[in-house]
This record gives sequence, C-alpha cells and structure tokens, in this order.
Amino acid sequence: MAKTRSTVRPAGARRPAAGRRPKRQAPSVARASAAGPQARAAKAKAPNATRRTAKAKAPSATRRTAKAKAPNATRRAPKRAPARASAFTATAQAVGRTLGRAASALAARVRPGAGTGDAIDLLEAEHRELEALLAEGEKTTARAGGRRRELLAAITDALTPHELIEEKVMYPALKSHVEARDIVLEGYQEHHVADVVLRELHGLPTSDERWGAKFKVFKENIEHHIEEEEGHMFKTARSVLSRQQLEALGTRMRRMKARARKTRR
Ligand SMILES: [Fe+2]
Ligand SMILES: [Fe+2]
Repeated sequence: MAKTRSTVRPAGARRPAAGRRPKRQAPSVARASAAGPQARAAKAKAPNATRRTAKAKAPSATRRTAKAKAPNATRRAPKRAPARASAFTATAQAVGRTLGRAASALAARVRPGAGTGDAIDLLEAEHRELEALLAEGEKTTARAGGRRRELLAAITDALTPHELIEEKVMYPALKSHVEARDIVLEGYQEHHVADVVLRELHGLPTSDERWGAKFKVFKENIEHHIEEEEGHMFKTARSVLSRQQLEALGTRMRRMKARARKTRR
C-alpha cells in the first residue's frame, strides 16, 4: 500500500500530537521542508527576520509618529483668546473697516479723474490736468521748440473733449436754471476765445517772439474761466441739481469722451 503525502515527514520534524490535526504549512515552507536541511535552515531564518523587522520597525514607527505628531498638533492648536480680547479685536476690526470706507470715499473725491465721482468731480480733475500743462508751457523758451509743440498737442487733446462735454452735457443741464443762466452763456464765449487763441498758437512758429506772450494770454484766459466755473457755476450746479443727477451727467460725459476718443483714432 502506497504512503499518502501527509504521512511523509522530513527528518527532524515533530510528529503532530495524537488526535490533533497538524497545522497546515504555507506552500513555500512545505516546499522548503521537502528540499532538504540547508534549504530548511535558510527558510527557517527568513520568517523570524521578517517578524523581527516587523516588530522592530512597525510599532516604533507608529510610536514615533504618535509621539511626534500628537503633542505638536496639540501645541500648534491656537489658544482660545480670553473673551475680553475677542471683544477688543472685534471693535478694532469694525473701526478699521469704517476708516477704510472713509479713506476710499475721500480718495474718490480727491482723485475723481480715475473713473469715479460725479460730473463736477470729473470736470475739476480735468481742470487740474490743464493747469499743470499750462504751467509747464509758460516755463518754456523759444529754444525748446519740440517741447512747446508737445505741450500744445497735449493741451489740445485735453481741452477739446473737456469743452465738448461741458457744452453738450453740463451747460445745457444748468442753462434752464435761472441762477446759472448768465454764467453758462459766459462760459460758451470763453470757450470760443480760448479756441481762437489756441488755433493761433498752433499756426505760430514756436521760435516766434510772440509765442510766449500769446501762450501767457491763453493760459490766463483758461485760468480765469476755470475760476468762474468752479466758483459760481459749479456751486450753483450743486445747489440746483441732485447728487443722482450729477452722477448721471458724469456717466454721460465719460461715455461721450470715450466716443470722441474712438472717432479721433
Ligand atoms: Fe469750460
Ligand atoms: Fe471747465
């Protein structure tokens, strides 16, 4: 009768206890057992080494992770501020927000040319730009022909659309109010005089001895006109037109300027 495989045990292997079913070996171990004593010795070490590695590394790594992370995480957690400090912070933030809004509103009033503000803000910003160009032009001499031509071109680029939006938007809106009628009629005539002198300046050689004198008269005319607009005219506008009306006029002016700019290109 042939022996079954289960009864074949390598030399030195323990006989299973009577009445107990032998533990089933992993296929690799079974193969090692069958291969002989050397292979058995080699295979016998490997699982121990693996277990040692697993014992030595895995738990310690876990412990290290737990030791390293948990306490730090606890330390990093923000401490709860006392109730008094929170109330103070909230008040400080509220004050900061209020000041920020006030600063933005002030900036819009001071720098309205940036695209904000009502009709008067826009016109006054353009006045400042014109005044700066006129002051620079007055300092030039006959030898600075190129600079004079550049400044004349810049003044024309600023003045022409400025007069346009005043004559097409602001003046008509004010003319119907009796308090503003005379100053508006005067404004049209002052624009006309300024345009005539500007044309003459363009036609005059920059080295001509009359250029400086004519430019000075032109500058004084514009400055006088600005003074009258910002004095009587705009003050009247603020009293007879509502904030919403002035804002609507400002929007119309910006659109008109944008269209005029496109047409010139
Ligand atoms: Fe004007
Ligand atoms: Fe003006």
